[in-house]
Amino acid sequence: MSHDLSLDFAPLPAAKAGTIVIYVEQDGVPEGEAKSVWDKTGKDFAAIAKSVGFSGKPGHMIDLVAPPNLACDRLLVLGRGKNGALDALSAWTDRGGSLMAKLEATRTRSASVILDEPGLEPRRVAELAAGAKLRRYRFDKYRTTPPENGPEAMSVTFVLKETGGLDDAVADRMAVVEGTLMARTLVNEPANVLGPVEFAGIANRLSDLGITVETLTPEDMADHGMGALLAVAQGSERPARLVVMQWRGGNPDAAPLAFIGKGVVFDTGGISIKPAANMEDMKGDMGGAAAVTGLMKTLALRKAKVNAVGVIGLVENMADGRSYRPGDIVTAMSGKTIEIVNTDAEGRLVLADALWYTQERFRPRLMVDLATLTGAALVALGHDHAALFCEDDATADKLFAAGQETGEKLWRMPFGQAYEKLIESRFADIKNSGGRKAGSITAAHFLRHFVNGVPWAHIDIAGTAFGANPSETNASWATGYGVAVLDRFIRDHGEGERT
Ligand code: BES
Ligand code: MN
Ligand code: ZN
Repeated sequence: MSHDLSLDFAPLPAAKAGTIVIYVEQDGVPEGEAKSVWDKTGKDFAAIAKSVGFSGKPGHMIDLVAPPNLACDRLLVLGRGKNGALDALSAWTDRGGSLMAKLEATRTRSASVILDEPGLEPRRVAELAAGAKLRRYRFDKYRTTPPENGPEAMSVTFVLKETGGLDDAVADRMAVVEGTLMARTLVNEPANVLGPVEFAGIANRLSDLGITVETLTPEDMADHGMGALLAVAQGSERPARLVVMQWRGGNPDAAPLAFIGKGVVFDTGGISIKPAANMEDMKGDMGGAAAVTGLMKTLALRKAKVNAVGVIGLVENMADGRSYRPGDIVTAMSGKTIEIVNTDAEGRLVLADALWYTQERFRPRLMVDLATLTGAALVALGHDHAALFCEDDATADKLFAAGQETGEKLWRMPFGQAYEKLIESRFADIKNSGGRKAGSITAAHFLRHFVNGVPWAHIDIAGTAFGANPSETNASWATGYGVAVLDRFIRDHGEGERT
């Protein structure tokens, strides 16, 4: 069994043996090179399409085994959907994923994919390749017996009219894929393997790519007064870590963009313990930290012309004799006191100190935090949108647009004075939960108390980080959500002369 995948690009004519793939537009017939391939078989396209119900919609396929007069084992005709130059880029990523699904289903080892659309832009070809690679990903390192008919190594050659400009476009896009896959693997890893120290070790290896990585221990964090983060960590045998990653690809004087991630390697709920059902999902409660780490990797791989900081708070939320309790009052690094009313509202405590530390140290031009923060975000938006909180309309619009473009979608949520009341405490400056109502919003309000004049966006990824049904571009539990949308946001709005 092997998941090895090699992706190549070659100019026409280059169809080799193995599987040949051609595309047909929705309600159309083979055209151009696809037509000349099909015509060699001597078969009646319309009749075959009708008999198998093929109309060229995405996901439709005609599978001809041992096609006559063609020097290949198999001819796959795939539906391309409706043509249109304004197609969202993510439609091409989906096509690439769908292609990979068909190649795997037909047990293809070697494929030539013919793409001779006139004017096909390199970045669209790059999306196809990216989609194929994303769909190919599996997390099966813990299986000692491979599934029957498991995958075989595969090589795919995209055969194009022109290959000019393709190398850069593909390398750039694959840098994002690598970041997404890194985030997926971090989220898929079980918590017995991936604790705070182990996660920090993986982040530290990014120094090989030119990222400066520092790691704070609990003693360092105590010196900074991070009483909120440390309260969460105190019930675990495994010590907390705060990892600071810096990529300096921009103007040396430019203030950085900062990305802050919730990294709860496992969330039992603590003394306010969670019910048993699905608690295993809480190995993924470090999805924010995983996305931030994957994003830093992407920026370094594609040598982004931007200054970026990634800060991740890594803790385990355990129930133990040393755990923090409901009723405890802790002091955050900012000096604010917090009454703990629910030890399961731990992510916001981790972020309170990580946000404060980030803005005090770096004065970033924008902070974006990512966190699997509230079950309420999952209830409100399911797996298809992350919840976006941002008071600046222009920044919110840009993040929204990046979500539409990449398929990692966001939906904006409100702030409002009425919600603020829900987190007022009888005993301290603020309490850490506002109860069941508007759970995602009160969590965002809590975080806002720890933002001090720095532009800020909060993205609640509780619904999008893991657990979605398999999609065109992902067959795995973890999604790697966040890397692609933030990379797109940085590319479109953060890179360039100003930075
Ligand atoms: N990690 C959870 C949120 C979560 C739930 C993420 C399901 C992904 C899937 C978070 O720490 C949590 O427990 N939040 C509580 C907050 C409540 C106690 C105010 C929640 O959502 O119930
Ligand atoms: Mn929790
Ligand atoms: Zn949590």
